[in-house]
Amino acid sequence: MSVFDRFNLTGRRALITGGSRGLGLEMAKALGEAGAELMIVGSDEEHLKRASAELHAVTIQADLSKPEEAERLCDVVLRDHAPIDILINNVGGRRINTPTEDLALGDWQRILDLNLTQAFILTKRIGGAMIQRKWGRIINISSINALWPGKAMRGRSYETSKGALTMFTKAVAADWAVHGITVNAIAPGPFLTDANKRWIGEKPEFEGEVADSIPMGRWGRPEEIAPLALYLASDASSYMTGSVLILDGGKLLW
Ligand SMILES: NC(=O)c1ccc[n+]([C@@H]2O[C@H](COP(=O)([O-])OP(=O)(O)OC[C@H]3O[C@@H](n4cnc5c(N)ncnc54)[C@H](OP(=O)(O)O)[C@@H]3O)[C@@H](O)[C@H]2O)c1
Repeated sequence: MSVFDRFNLTGRRALITGGSRGLGLEMAKALGEAGAELMIVGSDEEHLKRASAELHAVTIQADLSKPEEAERLCDVVLRDHAPIDILINNVGGRRINTPTEDLALGDWQRILDLNLTQAFILTKRIGGAMIQRKWGRIINISSINALWPGKAMRGRSYETSKGALTMFTKAVAADWAVHGITVNAIAPGPFLTDANKRWIGEKPEFEGEVADSIPMGRWGRPEEIAPLALYLASDASSYMTGSVLILDGGKLLW
């Protein structure tokens, strides 16, 4: 078997949340190219349709900011699309920038639900179903902000939820290693996806300020996460679990 064969995903089925755009779309493309059957989840039907035409993926609409929708998604997946071998918990983000002293409890909770609670629900139910099959890959998309509070950020619910997702990754990795399931996280730095293009649209100087704060002098391109996701999704990463892989052009060095 060549080293390239160890990245082959023929016969594997992967579920990627937020696979319709941004980092999730690029990770889905890579897993598809390696032979996996794909299932992607998003909140917007149009975005899902567009991505599915490109990826030939099964699509499921769900608003994962709501725990009850995450449960419904698991019901549908486990009933109609099981077994899932690879789970990428990619959905997350923030659209608020309110200082902690002014942050409403409801807004705090919504960000925790979006970044953490749904990932717990999918790990418990879809990851839990991997236990009896003795093979599984779970990849959680964290952030460098799990490790470092962003200077421009306010409210801190984003960093807190990504920090918790990172420790959840390590704890479940320890528990499930015996079952042949690996659980790892990727901590991206700034990537030019729609989410960041929206911030740049509101504050154009942000694009240059961020690029200047990175040793490589530029934002990440979404496709640059894909090879790392493929590594973690495949047999190539057979001895890696509980790791948090930083992908940031060196941003955390400065
Ligand atoms: N981009 C970065 O610089 C960066 C840095 C560090 C960490 N991250 C993390 O990487 C992940 C992906 O970020 P991204 O920049 O690729 O985001 P993005 O461009 O905003 O794409 C997000 C994807 O998630 C889906 N999504 C968003 N909210 C959803 C919801 N409530 N329910 C279901 N699907 C939802 C979107 O689908 P719809 O079209 O249906 O909304 C889309 O497919 C996030 O967890 C983010 O925190 C990103």
